[in-house]
Amino acid sequence: MTDFSGFYKLPMAERQKKVKEHAALTDEEMAVLDDTGALKREMADRMIENVIGAVHLPLGVATNFRINGKEMLIPMALEEPSVVAAASRAAKMALPEGFKADADSPVMTGQVQLVDLPDMDQAIRNLEKNKAEVLRIADEYMKPHAKWGGKVLDMRARPLNGGRRKMLLVEFDVNVSDAMGANMVNTTLEGVAPTLAALTDGKIRLRIITNLATKRKVRASAVWKKGVIGEEAIEGVLDGYELAKEDIYRCSTHNKGIMNGIDAVAMATGNDWRAVEAGAHAFAAMGTYHPLTRYEKTAKGDLMGSIELPLAVATIGGAVNSSPTARIALKVMGVKGSRELAMGMACVGLANNLAALAALSTVGIQSGHMKLHARNIAVIAGAETPEEIDAVAAELAKMKDFSSETAKKVLDDIRFGK
Ligand code: MEV
Repeated sequence: MTDFSGFYKLPMAERQKKVKEHAALTDEEMAVLDDTGALKREMADRMIENVIGAVHLPLGVATNFRINGKEMLIPMALEEPSVVAAASRAAKMALPEGFKADADSPVMTGQVQLVDLPDMDQAIRNLEKNKAEVLRIADEYMKPHAKWGGKVLDMRARPLNGGRRKMLLVEFDVNVSDAMGANMVNTTLEGVAPTLAALTDGKIRLRIITNLATKRKVRASAVWKKGVIGEEAIEGVLDGYELAKEDIYRCSTHNKGIMNGIDAVAMATGNDWRAVEAGAHAFAAMGTYHPLTRYEKTAKGDLMGSIELPLAVATIGGAVNSSPTARIALKVMGVKGSRELAMGMACVGLANNLAALAALSTVGIQSGHMKLHARNIAVIAGAETPEEIDAVAAELAKMKDFSSETAKKVLDDIRFGK
């Protein structure tokens, strides 16, 4: 048995050796781990703990996005075929007008939980009476970010009566500028919590940002003309949307298709896609779980689509700065700040949803999807050169058989002649 004690203290090469021994990795497999690509070993090693390599994803760009009259090339990193193509196709069909979008100011909310309060009403009164001073103390921790607009804006307290015991939740709204905000909000909360404890005689428990960033929402919309997408597609999208409204099992998949696009931009730009996901689905579950998009027919019979969701994304800080490809992706996108980034992401989510609904409700998605997936199957079957991959994929699509056995046979035929 390999001894992993002190693993985290070892240099990366030593860690790799241990893992090689533990999992009997071959030299070829070690070479794969060693290749960290654009993310230099030293940088990867500093980003998280126990690093032994880096994972690579393709970076694509969705085209045809015109947002508030400005062209935007949208970087997307993901493993799933069809998503980039679908977003680009839906965006093209919305031209020449393209998308309209707007985003709230970048305000995040943090929560401090207090328990063991001897007098709940008195605690709330004390907080209200000293609100200005509490805000001033909290804002001290935002001073390093003040030059970019970082500021504590508001505080409110609400009692919660859980089954276990009464508690008080004190919430702070913080303008986090172009950052995602978790670090600055959490630092602020930890800094101000002792003041809250002193004013309420309570005991401090959790101090953490909420990912349900309802004060940081983004909205986008577009019109798809009936002369462009066709009346049948419009009826199909409306039926598909109706199903998502009526049935949570469909709605989950409807929203997943939206997040295909949004998460891919988050990944490409070094953003915390788990936070984005948590916020999106919690938002969708406010009231009853609902679709993040809406569709309706306009008076002219065209299709109007819109989307609204919270998006806590950043153009500064965290992995946005440490990942070299994330910086390039943001430059490709040409966004000036987090609000513009969020707008681009919302438009991609809407475009992916429209494309999925239009295809699912008419021709289905499998034929197009499998044509693209055929390239993956060709690689798995052993195709090595771009020519081999293309030839195997084309043959599989022609045969409408995407099994790896058939792919191997087709590859053999190509290599050794029939
Ligand atoms: C697949 O990744 C996404 C879809 O299932 C979305 C949808 O069903 O709307 C195609």
